[in-house]
Amino acid sequence: MSGSVGAHAARTLPLSLVYTERMSGTGDKTFYLETFGCQMNAHDSEKVVGTLVQQGYRQVPSVEEAGLVLYNTCSIRDKAEQKVFNRLADYKKYRAQGKQFGVLGCVAQQEGEKIFERAPYVSLVCGSASYRNLPQMLVQLETGQRVTGLDDRATDKCFETEYTARTNPHRGYITIIEGCDKFCAYCVVPYTRGKERSRTSSSVLDEARQLVDLGYTEIQLLGQNVNSYRDPDGKKSFAEMLAAVASVAGMRRVRFTTSHPRDFGRDIVDVIDAVPTLCDHVHLPVQSGSTRVLDAMQRLYTRDEYLERIAWIQAARRDISITSDLIVGFPGETEREFEETLSLMDLVGYDSVFTFKYSPRPNTPALRLEDAIPDAEKARRLAVLNDKQKQIGVERNRRHVGQVLEVMVEGKNPARGQWIGRTSQIKVMNFTVPAGVELTTGSYVPVRVTGSFPNSLVGEMASASGDGGGSKESAGRGAAAELR
Ligand code: 5AD
Ligand code: SF4
Repeated sequence: MSGSVGAHAARTLPLSLVYTERMSGTGDKTFYLETFGCQMNAHDSEKVVGTLVQQGYRQVPSVEEAGLVLYNTCSIRDKAEQKVFNRLADYKKYRAQGKQFGVLGCVAQQEGEKIFERAPYVSLVCGSASYRNLPQMLVQLETGQRVTGLDDRATDKCFETEYTARTNPHRGYITIIEGCDKFCAYCVVPYTRGKERSRTSSSVLDEARQLVDLGYTEIQLLGQNVNSYRDPDGKKSFAEMLAAVASVAGMRRVRFTTSHPRDFGRDIVDVIDAVPTLCDHVHLPVQSGSTRVLDAMQRLYTRDEYLERIAWIQAARRDISITSDLIVGFPGETEREFEETLSLMDLVGYDSVFTFKYSPRPNTPALRLEDAIPDAEKARRLAVLNDKQKQIGVERNRRHVGQVLEVMVEGKNPARGQWIGRTSQIKVMNFTVPAGVELTTGSYVPVRVTGSFPNSLVGEMASASGDGGGSKESAGRGAAAELR
């Protein structure tokens, strides 16, 4: 987590929420944190950093400078645990310097005390469900004790932090639900992140308001199954919460990820249609297009039920982009079943997909299934699937050519003379601006699309008065975008 939060330095901020690397800590206690994995993990690290800073630690940019070296791990695929052990072996050479080492996150939870056996110089092993106990754990660590945080997966408490070290200056992340109760047959997450537990809607809304006060205009709500959100106070459904967060004064864009199809209600589509600041995008992982495979995966929906949800989204007044995750080579997946995934991709017309070869994970029920698909066959299916998405992506992006879309500016590519940003549909846009115009990152500009690629759009900045209109074809709020 070495990104900059300096963009906020010029504003008057309540220091409870933001810090800069320079102002943190008093000096003596230093830490280095490296993070792998999903957005949830990245945001956990922002909260872990905030917690450490509050305990008087200072973040440093290298292992060499750190007294405490932390490694926030992911175990979703491949030989994740092996990679962690290899990295820890690299750290061994620092042991003589008196550094302390900690393993956090999903591999920490999965491997537990085995980490101490294989890497005896590690002194902290902590899964994400135990992060809220970090302050006490740090105190113990400072007295030279070995500390574990592995027993909290059944907790109903969330990791609420007073400080969060935000690394993205424009998009603020808010975890609204932790853990997972779905138990898909291939997935480690329920074992590593524990039981599903939601934050209260008041706490989430307070954080959203604080973020806007800090200058954030885009917020992404996070959860392993974000739409399984259940307000412990019973005040708001997930859709109502989306509406409430998106209606905070000053908010420009609200996203949410990842949605589980089983809990995806029509009310989510209705609220996107009703509230303009909700983005035109739903990430709805299907994993497979075959009902037989979905059943073996314990996904809790059929192909038809999934397609019904897609039909709701496609019937919206807004032009909502749909993205997904797909797994090939689940044990026993036949060629015909694989082809059902291809045909589903055609039916949906995804704007983009993340594709994975099935990989067996410790503790998961799928380990017991027979008929493993050989790796070469998984690789072939993956390539076929990626080719198909390339064609679909080209088609999906071509429809934007000629439209004026609102883009949030994220940076500049001086070598190509282009700016880069994202549309509400979360598409990457590379665009030019008239000579002499300088943009600021985090601002919103209207961009006329002049070309399309499978994974991005190109365009030129349009006049702020715009001519995009507000229809489904002309992509929503583009015309209203102003330069700031
Ligand atoms: N093998 C392959 N892909 C997996 N995913 C989760 N577990 C596995 C696994 N064991 C993929 C799913 C999920 C995404 C985050 O990672 O597609 O949606
Ligand atoms: Fe990796 Fe899953 Fe853990 Fe995220 S929740 S860090 S993807 S194993």
